[in-house]
Amino acid sequence: MTACIVGWSHGKFGKLDGETSESLIVKAASEAIAHAGIEPRDIDVIYVGNMNGGFVRQEFHSSLALQTHPDLRFKPSTRVENACATGSAAIHMGLNTLAARKARFVLVVGVEKMTELNSAQAGEVLIKASYVAEEANIEAGFAGIFGKITSAYFQRYGDKSDALAKIAVKAHKNGAKNPFAHFQKEFAYEFCRNPSDKNPFVAGPLKRTDCSPVTDGAAAVVLADVGTALGMKQAIAFRAAQHVNDFLPMSKRDIIKFEGPALAWKQALGEAKLDLLDLSFVESHDCFTSAELIEYEAMGLTAPGEGERAIHEGWVERDGKLPVNVSGGLKAKGHPVGATGVSMHVMTAMQLHGSAPGGLQLPNAKVGGVFNMGGAAVANYVSILEPLR
Ligand code: COA
Repeated sequence: MTACIVGWSHGKFGKLDGETSESLIVKAASEAIAHAGIEPRDIDVIYVGNMNGGFVRQEFHSSLALQTHPDLRFKPSTRVENACATGSAAIHMGLNTLAARKARFVLVVGVEKMTELNSAQAGEVLIKASYVAEEANIEAGFAGIFGKITSAYFQRYGDKSDALAKIAVKAHKNGAKNPFAHFQKEFAYEFCRNPSDKNPFVAGPLKRTDCSPVTDGAAAVVLADVGTALGMKQAIAFRAAQHVNDFLPMSKRDIIKFEGPALAWKQALGEAKLDLLDLSFVESHDCFTSAELIEYEAMGLTAPGEGERAIHEGWVERDGKLPVNVSGGLKAKGHPVGATGVSMHVMTAMQLHGSAPGGLQLPNAKVGGVFNMGGAAVANYVSILEPLR
C-alpha cells in the first residue's frame, strides 16, 4: 500500500450546456482540494485526464488546471490519455509519482466535454480508439466495435439479450439514486428488451439502452502518500493498483475472452491478497451492457459463457453477493471518457467513507474494486480500495 485518496469531488454528469472543459476542470479541482482540507499551494504535481481527439477544439489541457488558483502557477502538470481508461491512467501516473517520492500531494482531474458534437460525430471521435488500420470502417462508431464483440459472443454462447436488458435495468435502477448521474430515472425491462422507436438497434444486437450515453463531466481526486494520509481528514488506500495493456488489433486476440481485463483482475486480487468475493462491491466498465456481461467472466465471478448467471440470479444487484455498478455505472451515470476512471474511484471512495450521496450508500462497504477499460479490452486498470483506518 503506497498511496491514498485524501480528497475528492464529483460534478453532475450530463449534457452540460454552458460549461467548457476549463470550467469543469476548475470546479472539480477546487472542490477536491477543499475536500482534502489543503491549500492549492500544497499540491506538488497535477495530472489532467482528457481524451479529446476532437470533442472540443482546445487540445492542450494540462495548464487549464492552473486556472483553478494563482498558487498553482508553475506546478508541473501533464495531460494523460489512454482512451476510455484515461482517468485511471492519470491516477496511475499520480501513484507512480508518489511511489517515486516526487510529491506529497498529487491532484488528478478527469474531464471530457463530448456533447458539442452530435452522437454520430462523437462516434467518429471514439472510433479513433480502435485499431484504425483494420477497424475504423465499422459502422456506428465505437458502438460498432462492441456490436461486433456482442455478435461474436452470441454466436459462441447463444443469444443473451435477456441478460443485457436486465443489466440495463439494474444500471438505471441504481442510477436513479445517483444525483451525479446523466440519467436519473428507471427504465422498464420490456422497454430495454424490445426494439422500438425510442430504443432502436444501434449496432449488431445492441440497442440504445445497451449503450452508455455521450456525456459531459469531470471528477477529481487528491492523492497523498500513506504517511501524509494518516494526518488527513479522510484517507482511502490503494490496496492494489494494476495496469495491463493488450494488443490493439482485435484480429490478434480472441476478443470475447477479455484476457487483458482478466489478467488485471488476477494481478490486483493477488496484490491485495483477496478473493473476488472478499470485495464488498465493484464499479466495472459498462460502456455497453455486453461489456459488463463479459467482465463478470473476466473478474472470475462466473465461468466463460456463463456471465448471464450473475444478473439472472441477482448476484450483482445492490443486495446481491457482489453488487456491480451501484452508482449506475457508465450506462446511467454517463461516460465522459476522460473523467470516467476518476469518477469510478470517487464513487468507490465515497462508498468506503460512508458518504455516498442520495440513496447510494451500501451497508458494510469495506473493500471496493474498480475496473476501467480503454478500447475493446486494450488498456485495463484494476484498483482495490479500502479505508486506511
Ligand atoms: N441510453 C438510453 N437513452 C439514451 C441514450 C443511452 N445511451 N442516449 C440517448 N438516449 C436518449 C436521450 O435522452 C433522448 O431521450 P428523449 O427523446 O427522451 O429526450 C433519446 O435517447 C435520443 O437521444 P439522442 O442523443 O438523439 O440519441 P442518439 O441515437 O443520437 O444516440 C447512442 C444514442 C446510443 C447512439 C449514443 O448515446 C452513443 O453513441 N453512445 C455510445 C457512446 C460510446 O461509444 N462511448 C464510448 C464507449 S467505449
